[in-house]
Amino acid sequence: MSLNGEVCLPGDKSIAHRAIILGALSQGNTRIENFPFNKDCCFTVQAFQKLGIKIKTNKNNVIVFGKGLFGLKRSATDIFVGDSGTTYRLLLGVLAGQSFASRLVADKALSKRPMLRITAPLRLMGADIIARRKKKQSAGFEEYPPITIKGGNLKAITYSTPVASAQVKSAILLAGLFAEGKTKVIESVKTRDHSERMLQLFKAGIKVSENVITIDGGKGLFSPGKIYVPGDLSSAAFFMVAAAIIPGSRVIINNVSLNPSRIGILNVLKRMRVDIKICPHTACRSSASLGVNTPQAEPIGDIIVKSSCLKGTRVSRKEIPSLIDELPILMVAASVAKGKTIFNGVGELRVKETDRIKSMSENLVKMGAKIKVEREGNFENIVVEGVEQLNGAIVKSYGDHRTAMSMSIAGLQAKNKTKIDDISCVSKSFPDFFRILNSLKG
Ligand code: S3P
Repeated sequence: MSLNGEVCLPGDKSIAHRAIILGALSQGNTRIENFPFNKDCCFTVQAFQKLGIKIKTNKNNVIVFGKGLFGLKRSATDIFVGDSGTTYRLLLGVLAGQSFASRLVADKALSKRPMLRITAPLRLMGADIIARRKKKQSAGFEEYPPITIKGGNLKAITYSTPVASAQVKSAILLAGLFAEGKTKVIESVKTRDHSERMLQLFKAGIKVSENVITIDGGKGLFSPGKIYVPGDLSSAAFFMVAAAIIPGSRVIINNVSLNPSRIGILNVLKRMRVDIKICPHTACRSSASLGVNTPQAEPIGDIIVKSSCLKGTRVSRKEIPSLIDELPILMVAASVAKGKTIFNGVGELRVKETDRIKSMSENLVKMGAKIKVEREGNFENIVVEGVEQLNGAIVKSYGDHRTAMSMSIAGLQAKNKTKIDDISCVSKSFPDFFRILNSLKG
């Protein structure tokens, strides 16, 4: 069996969340095209509906009827965001700017994920926050959902983010919209910059200079009218690796996001000697508002991947934020590459939807892969020694969408059958994953 054909994917999840949020906080209506109706993005829609924003949904599109920076209303009930970490964390930034109290609740898995990285800077800005607190095994404590937050009267801060996280950066920038003065975020390693691009598109007072972002408080946002969400590169990653490792394959993925802060996987696959062709579009399809060659443009293109003989590589700590969500599927690629692949500084994988270092290495080792996790001071590295072919096995998704999708691609490369215990979790980001994968099978 090989994979052959051409696909167009649902819009990028990170961009879609931000389009809803800024659409709600701006003057004017925003039509969001190619909106991905996955569970996570729908939780963002529902959260803003609860906060008094009218949002209409059609087949592929969403219209947000913005009420301006100070137009949100107190939700009559708790705001439940399921397992959507991006909704939870970015919403905390927005709610920090509101003079009313909100209670944000999450499902079981998200309720175990760390929130102190967000609540700490928001408290420094003046937000009143009560979170579930637990002592850490090491020193100090961590905070988790549910969280009650009441804000207003925020003051600008200058903040160096202690973890490389676009969610932390974005929550502070969103709170900064409501603060008195200029809020500054300094990143030690640059993370995805969708918030910065979209804030520029909505005419916020934002300046970006290398790893330093400054935002003016109190300045209103103006909708560009229309936003086209490019295909999600994180979803494309599964088909790219599948085409690369399954002999006789050739897959074309059209209209996918090529945002430079997200294309780490393309660079790594090229280093692994994958036959991959990237064709950037010179004009953004169907959206004048996203601009072309402007700072706010989200670059789009087509990607063609052919099956290849993969070779191991080293992925540096600095590259990790640009491919953080692609590490599970890159571990699959590394498992069947010739030689050694080292992923440096991957500790953040421990606090994703599940501990992905554990979920992916346990599963892949069951299938015959050679994987070691090594400590180097404060950092964790994954070392993969490639084997020729994996063996089918019974594996677990741990309720994590990216583990489930990565293991199904591993299963296609393997001899014999692979059984994954629970695949319903893929609807978190990519409900159409199996339908599209089946359409490519020759
Ligand atoms: C996201 C940022 C990343 C990523 C997540 C989406 C975003 O999380 O893993 O899937 O949209 O900002 P961190 O910022 O926690 O690394």
